[in-house]
Amino acid sequence: MPLHAKVDEIHGEAELDIHHPIYGRDVAHGIPKHRMPDHPMPPDAALQVVKDELILDGNARLNLATFVTTWMEPQAADLMADCFSKNMIDKDEYPQTAELEKRCVNIIANLWHAPGPATGCSTTGSSEACMLGGLALLWRWRARQQAAGASQAKPNLVMSAGVQVCWEKFCRYWLVEPKLVPMESARPHLTGENAAAHCDENTIGVVAILGSTFDGRYEPVEEICGALDDLQRRTGLDVPVHVDAASGGFVAPFLVPDLAWDFRLPRVASINTSGHKYGLVYPGVGWIIWRDAAALPEDLIFKVNYLGGEMPTFALNFSRPGGQVAAQYYNFLRLGFDGYRQVQLGCQRLAKHLAAEIAAMGPFELISDGSDLPVLAFQLADPEAAGYTVFDLSERLRQRGWLIPAYTFPPNMQDIAVLRIVVRTGFSRDLADLLLSDLRTQVKALGAAQQAPVPLLPEGQRSAFAH
Ligand SMILES: Cc1ncc(COP(=O)(O)O)c(C=O)c1O
Repeated sequence: MPLHAKVDEIHGEAELDIHHPIYGRDVAHGIPKHRMPDHPMPPDAALQVVKDELILDGNARLNLATFVTTWMEPQAADLMADCFSKNMIDKDEYPQTAELEKRCVNIIANLWHAPGPATGCSTTGSSEACMLGGLALLWRWRARQQAAGASQAKPNLVMSAGVQVCWEKFCRYWLVEPKLVPMESARPHLTGENAAAHCDENTIGVVAILGSTFDGRYEPVEEICGALDDLQRRTGLDVPVHVDAASGGFVAPFLVPDLAWDFRLPRVASINTSGHKYGLVYPGVGWIIWRDAAALPEDLIFKVNYLGGEMPTFALNFSRPGGQVAAQYYNFLRLGFDGYRQVQLGCQRLAKHLAAEIAAMGPFELISDGSDLPVLAFQLADPEAAGYTVFDLSERLRQRGWLIPAYTFPPNMQDIAVLRIVVRTGFSRDLADLLLSDLRTQVKALGAAQQAPVPLLPEGQRSAFAH
C-alpha cells in the first residue's frame, strides 16, 4: 500500500463541508478531515459523505488496466456480504469455511495436474502466495547447503526482468539476490537457455511467469524446465521452478489444456495464482500449491489448535476475510470446467477482436494480441512521425472514463512505450466497439493537431502503470 505522510498543521485543520440538505439538516458541526470527529453523526449522513468522495474514483467496469475482477454475479456479491463478518483464520468457529478452502485447494491442485499428495492454501493474493513460494525455495536451498557444509550467505533467485514487483519485494525482504535476466525485443521473456546460464550453486530456484504483467504472454515453462534438466545432467545442480501463474493459472487450463506448464513437469515445485484475477473473484484471494510435502519444508509450517486437533498453516497474514474463499468455491460450482472455459474464451475472442481492429487503424503495432492471456499491448509504430505519445492517448481516453495505462518496458527495452488492455469478464462486445470508436476519434484528433499536444498531467504523474 502507498505510504501516507501525516499532513501538516495547516492542512490538518481542513474540514468537510457537509452543511447541505443532502447530508441531513441536523448535521451542524464541522467535520475535521484528518482528525477523528468529536461527535457521532447519523449513519445516512456518514454514508453520503463517503459515497460522495468515492464518486471521484474511476468506473471499475471501464478499468482495462487491472487484472483484478471488477464484476461478479449478484448472487456471488450476496454470498460475500453474508461472509463479511467471518475471519478466515477462525477455523474453529467457521469450520465450514475451512472445508470450502480445502475443497478449493483440491480443485486447483487437480486442475494443475498435481500427481500425488499436493499441499496448498489460500492467501490474500498472488503477492503473498509468491512470498510463501519463495520462502519454501529459500528454506530448501538452505537445508541443502547445510547438509553439504556449504555457505548459506548468498542465495539468489533467477527470473526475467519483467517479473511483477512482488518478486523484487521478496528478494529485498528476505535478503535474496535477484538475478534478473534482461528482456530483449526479440525474446521479451525468460528462455531455457538464459535461465540455465544464470543459475549457480546459490540459486534457490527459477521463477517462470505464466502471463506477463507487461503484455500477457506466457514464458516457455517446459523449455525452461528442459534446460534445467540438462543443467543438472551436466553439472549436478538441481534447481527447482516456481511458476507465477497469477493470471495464467485460471486461463491456460481452459484455453490450452495441452500446454505443459504445471505439475506435469516434474521440475515444477510450486505454483501460485490470483483467485481475484481470472479466478473471477473480487479482491483479495490468491492460491499456492506445492507439488508434495518435500517441496514445502516442515519448519515453515505453524500448527494451530483446531477442533481439538492441530491444523497446519503457512501464511504471512493472520486475520483475513472469509468471503473471497466462499466466492471462489461458488464460482467453481456455478461455472464448472466448461463455464470457466466459456468465460475465458469469450474474453480471448474480445481481446483478439480489439487487437485486429487496433492493428488495422494504422499508427499502431501490436506487441501481443490476446493469444495467451486475453491481454493486448500495442505501441506506436513510428512515435516520431505520430507527433504524440501513448501517454497522450491514455490521458485523452481517460476523459471518456476509459482506464488504459501507458508505460515503458523494463531495462533494455525502455524505449518501448505501450498501451495495455486487459479484457476480463464483464467487458462486452458493445463496450469494446465503443472503446474502438473513442480510440479512433482520439487518434484522428491527435494526428490532425499541428503541434505536439501539451500533456494534461504533470510529467511525474504520466506513467499510469503500477500493477
Ligand atoms: C505475474 C504476476 N505476479 C504477481 C502479481 C501480484 O498479484 P496480486 O495482485 O494478486 O498480489 C501480479 C499482479 O498483477 C502479476 O501479474
